[in-house]
Amino acid sequence: MKYKACLFDLDGVLVDTAIYHFQAWKTLGRQFDFELSHEQNEELKGISRVESLEKILQWANYQATHEQKDRWLKEKNENYLALISNMNSNEILPGVISFLQQLKEQGFLIALGSASKNAQIILEKTGLITWFHAIIDGNKVSKSKPDPEVFQKGAEALGCSSEECIVFEDAQAGIDAAKAGGMKVIGIGSPLVLSGADKIISSFTEIQVSDFLTL
Ligand code: G6P
Ligand code: MG
Repeated sequence: MKYKACLFDLDGVLVDTAIYHFQAWKTLGRQFDFELSHEQNEELKGISRVESLEKILQWANYQATHEQKDRWLKEKNENYLALISNMNSNEILPGVISFLQQLKEQGFLIALGSASKNAQIILEKTGLITWFHAIIDGNKVSKSKPDPEVFQKGAEALGCSSEECIVFEDAQAGIDAAKAGGMKVIGIGSPLVLSGADKIISSFTEIQVSDFLTL
């Protein structure tokens, strides 16, 4: 078989945490009178915490000191952790478990490729952790998406070449990262905001493993 592995982004692909990141950044922005929009939030998807703050400060045209930045990064994460504190398997997105089950039955390797430093805790809270053969998260990479590092490390950890991997992503930065790594990518979301993917679906309820084997 051509493909051996699937690499999954976490936030907005497996679990509905994208909304919590949005809420936490929105709350933070209000400290300097900035109201984060949905369109701007799209650009924050897939990129690291530090880079997200830098973008927000730029949009707000606010010159922050190092101390303010450190404090706000901490505050945003504390707020985010509070929002996800009661997370459980109910917040796994529709169709995800049955898709993972199909992959397992068909012998695929499964890895996580996420920019989040909170990935481990979310995988544990939701019980998703048991599906993964490798986990590459924000603690294991030095370059953010759209750099392909996170997916290249995922492929390497599974012992696969990039041609043998399919990436699942909800962020434009993540689609670009997968493409830069020479991998096939399925976008999760709307074709109105995502471009460059080999296929776009709105949810895992729309796809069977057999649907992507011909990509
Ligand atoms: C993911 C999300 C981003 C988030 C980043 C870092 O890529 O899509 O919105 O900023 O992870 O997450 P963290 O949990 O480390 O703040
Ligand atoms: Mg995502």
